[in-house]
Amino acid sequence: MVLKGILVTIATLLLLTDSSQSGNDDGCKPAPPSGCVYKVTDNLPTVICNNLNLKAIPTCLPGKTHPKKLIINGNNISQITSIRYDTLEYLYIESDNVLNIVLYAFGHLSNLTVLSLRNNFITDIQRDTFIGLTHLKELYLTNNSIKTLPHHAFFYLPQLKILEINKNSIASISDGAFANLTVLSELNLRDNKLIAVPKFNNTRLDLDILNLGQNKLTEIPHEPFKTLKYLKTLYLDDNEIITLPHSAFWGLDHLKLLHLENNQLSHIWYHLFLDPWESLLEVYLHNNNIAELNPIQLPWKQLHVVTLDDNHWLCTCKTVWMKSLRAVIDNSTSIMYVKVFF
Ligand SMILES: *[C@@H]1O[C@H](CO)[C@@H](O)[C@H](O)[C@H]1NC(C)=O
Ligand SMILES: *[C@@H]1O[C@H](CO)[C@@H](O)[C@H](O)[C@H]1NC(C)=O
Ligand SMILES: *[C@@H]1O[C@H](CO)[C@@H](O)[C@H](O)[C@H]1NC(C)=O
Ligand SMILES: *[C@@H]1O[C@H](CO)[C@@H](O)[C@H](O)[C@H]1NC(C)=O
Ligand SMILES: *[C@@H]1O[C@H](CO)[C@@H](O)[C@H](O)[C@H]1NC(C)=O
Ligand SMILES: *[C@@H]1O[C@H](CO)[C@@H](O)[C@H](O)[C@H]1NC(C)=O
Repeated sequence: MVLKGILVTIATLLLLTDSSQSGNDDGCKPAPPSGCVYKVTDNLPTVICNNLNLKAIPTCLPGKTHPKKLIINGNNISQITSIRYDTLEYLYIESDNVLNIVLYAFGHLSNLTVLSLRNNFITDIQRDTFIGLTHLKELYLTNNSIKTLPHHAFFYLPQLKILEINKNSIASISDGAFANLTVLSELNLRDNKLIAVPKFNNTRLDLDILNLGQNKLTEIPHEPFKTLKYLKTLYLDDNEIITLPHSAFWGLDHLKLLHLENNQLSHIWYHLFLDPWESLLEVYLHNNNIAELNPIQLPWKQLHVVTLDDNHWLCTCKTVWMKSLRAVIDNSTSIMYVKVFF
């Protein structure tokens, strides 16, 4: 606790004492890199320094107005060091060969709302990496090399709404990695190496959308999403899930879209869809190993989309009803496709 206090104090001091390099060219030296352009985009003063083979974030920028948007894409910046442009609201450092971010690099950027670090080679995220970003709403870390999310990884981002860490190499997520993300609504962990569903029971997450697709999940634990009461969209597709416990979706009273396609599911528990029963609109079950489904296992009349093709349907007394499935639900205008092969 004491250490935490000291760190916060150091960050605050940095914020208070360092007002040089404020982002205009009035006396700022060295001169801004030639090729960096100042212009107004979406009514915001913007500086763009794309594809200039820059080795570092420039210490001076062109333009007489302090920029609110800075785009530095396609350069060769192996390390992100402290960024002093405290007027920034949008910052894009994409495809820049970034390997690491020094701690407190964003400590001055308390007005930043969008930070994109897509398409780099960042391996490490620490609790203090994002310290100071008190107004950040969207963080994009898509397509990096992050292997693990430590305890309190996003602790200092109290306003974050969208967190995209898809296309990384995340194999483990510490308990408490998502602590303090109380307003997060979209969490994208797609295309990683997760073998277990992260624990959400000790967080105050209130997600709308959770994407765990394209990972290495084989098992789903007992009531794993119970605390995500208002979840509307859940992606579990493209994993290696063999079985779902009957409690897999317990607590998900508001779930609308459920993606379970491209797994190895065989048995579907009788009451599996009971909790999201009232709210479900789309259920994707194609390309699994399902042999049987009972006619009262899904709320057919209200569903807009059900995909059942590419399974191993058995032709038994229990499944004979499925032959007439098309007739039962086809008249509903919004059905996208239902293909059942016998
Ligand atoms: C990027 O920088 C590294 C050294 O940091 C260098 O080895 C590499 O050649 C540079 N790449 C380009 C395209 O300039
Ligand atoms: C941050 O935003 C607030 C509210 O829009 C504004 O008053 C303040 O001047 C901004 N800070 C900087 C350093 O631009
Ligand atoms: C991911 O980032 C690397 C490095 O910038 C890039 O070469 C690659 O094309 C990106 N992949 C995608 C799918 O964008
Ligand atoms: C994080 O949450 C804890 C309580 O869980 C709170 O004490 C702390 O002030 C929060 N920190 C930030 C930076 O919001
Ligand atoms: C969260 O769930 C795990 C099992 O999935 C359990 O071991 C742990 O005690 C639970 N924590 C809380 C705070 O409920
Ligand atoms: C579908 O529509 C056709 C013609 O409009 C009607 O004859 C048939 O009974 C309807 N089927 C169902 C299941 O409502």
